[in-house]
Amino acid sequence: MITLCFLLLIAVTKDCVSQDEDGPYRGKFIGKLNSYHHQVSGEVYAVDDFTILLVNFNYDGTGDDTFFWAGDSGRPGPQGFIVPNEYGRTNILERYYNAEVRLAVPEGKRISRIKWLAVYDIGSQNTFGDVYVPDDFDAPAERAIGPLAGSPAVSSKPVRLLDASTILIPELRYDGSGEEVYFWVGVGPQPSSKGEKIPDEYGYLEPLRRYAGEDVRLALGVPPAPRRPAAPRARLPHCRQLHRDLQVSWEVFGNQLTLEVAARMDEDEYVAFGISGSDSASRMLGADVAVLQYDAAQQRGLATDYNVTAAAPCVQVLGAWRGVCADAVLGGLDSNQVFGARREDGLTVISYRRTLAAAEPMDRDWALDRPVYVVWALGRLDAAREPAFHRLYPRHDVSLRLTQDPPDNDCVPFTVGSRSAPPPWEVAELFDPALRVFTFRLGPAGGARGLAGRPLRHSPPLAWYVNGQLAPDLQLRRGLQYVFKVYGGNDPHSATEYHPLIVTAEPLGGLERLSELAQRQARVLAGVHYTRRGRLAPTAAGPLCMARHAAGADRRRDDDYGTFRAFNRSLQWQCAAGAPAELLVAPNTTWPDRVYYQSFTHAGMGGRIYVVDKHRRNIGRTGAAAARA
Ligand SMILES: *[C@@H]1O[C@H](CO)[C@@H](O)[C@H](O)[C@H]1NC(C)=O
Ligand SMILES: *[C@@H]1O[C@H](CO)[C@@H](O)[C@H](O)[C@H]1NC(C)=O
Ligand SMILES: *[C@@H]1O[C@H](CO)[C@@H](O)[C@H](O)[C@H]1NC(C)=O
Repeated sequence: MITLCFLLLIAVTKDCVSQDEDGPYRGKFIGKLNSYHHQVSGEVYAVDDFTILLVNFNYDGTGDDTFFWAGDSGRPGPQGFIVPNEYGRTNILERYYNAEVRLAVPEGKRISRIKWLAVYDIGSQNTFGDVYVPDDFDAPAERAIGPLAGSPAVSSKPVRLLDASTILIPELRYDGSGEEVYFWVGVGPQPSSKGEKIPDEYGYLEPLRRYAGEDVRLALGVPPAPRRPAAPRARLPHCRQLHRDLQVSWEVFGNQLTLEVAARMDEDEYVAFGISGSDSASRMLGADVAVLQYDAAQQRGLATDYNVTAAAPCVQVLGAWRGVCADAVLGGLDSNQVFGARREDGLTVISYRRTLAAAEPMDRDWALDRPVYVVWALGRLDAAREPAFHRLYPRHDVSLRLTQDPPDNDCVPFTVGSRSAPPPWEVAELFDPALRVFTFRLGPAGGARGLAGRPLRHSPPLAWYVNGQLAPDLQLRRGLQYVFKVYGGNDPHSATEYHPLIVTAEPLGGLERLSELAQRQARVLAGVHYTRRGRLAPTAAGPLCMARHAAGADRRRDDDYGTFRAFNRSLQWQCAAGAPAELLVAPNTTWPDRVYYQSFTHAGMGGRIYVVDKHRRNIGRTGAAAARA
């Protein structure tokens, strides 16, 4: 049985909500535009004292010298100032059709002191449409609401509405016990089912986790200032909002399933979406997914058919491919047909089609007579444009009923704008000239603040931890001999935990999955030998010693740690018995000034080595600047 609990009521005071009680919350209503000419119409809201939101805004775009124009007194006329358009520019206005337009008032102005806003032609001094700001208008501003209360499972300090679009819940405590508990906002004196679910602080729409006295910041329907709503998009009739930044819509026609996946993501990212590996839960292992990406250079979309046999990049394990591998690599077929792709404003939209029934044994069926469990993930593409580790993925089961009537549709418009990544943790420097022994263990790569936040943008699941630091920079002197003690796993049957150490001249590593030709071209300075058949084989595989997330920890929250030191404290180490593999590293005059330590099997897990003739204290800083340049 499903129990719905409404954890969060924001009993927003009446003057601070939209007039339209059923619609999404947009800020405080100022009024409807009075329409005089050029089909100007729309509703006007104050998001906060500095931001105006026009909703359903129309203007035919044919004025010669027409702007958003506002004034502090009197009526619309020559005494006024331009309000820049939604891009912050003061260009002559173009056509708008049912648009949602967000305007920042100019420096030094406030909506509560503005008298009127108009669509005004400066050349002909003509008002095409206007709205008056009421005399004692109070724009939504930071205000305190009561603490969360009502259930012993939930408590907080008084909730603050930072502006019309942001809620701060200080010191939220919730035991995480409810099955279907969400952040829920509504208008009115009591929580009720009339309201809307809002994403949690990470954008997930899933049942809430446990909160232990944390400050939680939530965005309401109105995007925070630098963002704006995306242009409206026709979607297929069935639609599921999988995350704030991801929706899938679909339609079944005959024996075909048409899907459209839309995601707010970076250009070098992918979304994987498809049928779960299990019929009764969402499981990545054994899943049949399409890996969707937009290739900007060729302006085309890909929806490549993949088979998931291990939670790892596609690697060869003793001659067989394992991990997240394209069907084509496995000797299968690509069963998806892409017929539309575009990328605009940070939003990638790809539509593709496949048959409901599996086209080959590697694929799975989409069933119509029962819910289909699906899986999804969003993450970065690696240098070969293959999916690397994912940063977003569901924590709960997700199922779709493909032909439900009326159609299942809970999608909401996206907001677009640049995604802000948290600042990366500092890269440690092991530059002490007395250091001759380095110990290499494994640990999580640390989310957006870890390896993914560094200039090379590698996004592996695991990273090398050297002398307790996350993939630090090392400095080695030519002519000296160093010992690298390696604990990276020595079971070649493991697709995920077999990491012999190598030192290479190129920054990628992961030689095992390269073609024979590419392997021959790679310059490896330590850690391999050639087999009699001419293949590269690693030499420095030691027992596995690895830091893992503590039980129950959620790696999607790695970004919450301000420093690597704090993150590192949250981890738990597990080390197999046995002596490490020892790799002797002796840089000589043939070595370039910059080399890298890496894993033989997976790409991007390591860091930089500065090779010097004389130790230098600040080589890292100049080196880092050079790397960025
Ligand atoms: C595809 O994945 C399934 C489930 O993990 C597995 O049984 C099958 O062998 C895979 N196919 C290939 C060719 O690896
Ligand atoms: C990380 O944790 C390990 C084990 O507790 C410790 O030896 C190491 O010094 C820590 N690293 C940092 C940078 O705090
Ligand atoms: C320099 O180092 C490379 C790679 O480790 C090695 O193959 C080569 O023999 C060394 N050269 C000399 C002169 O020692």
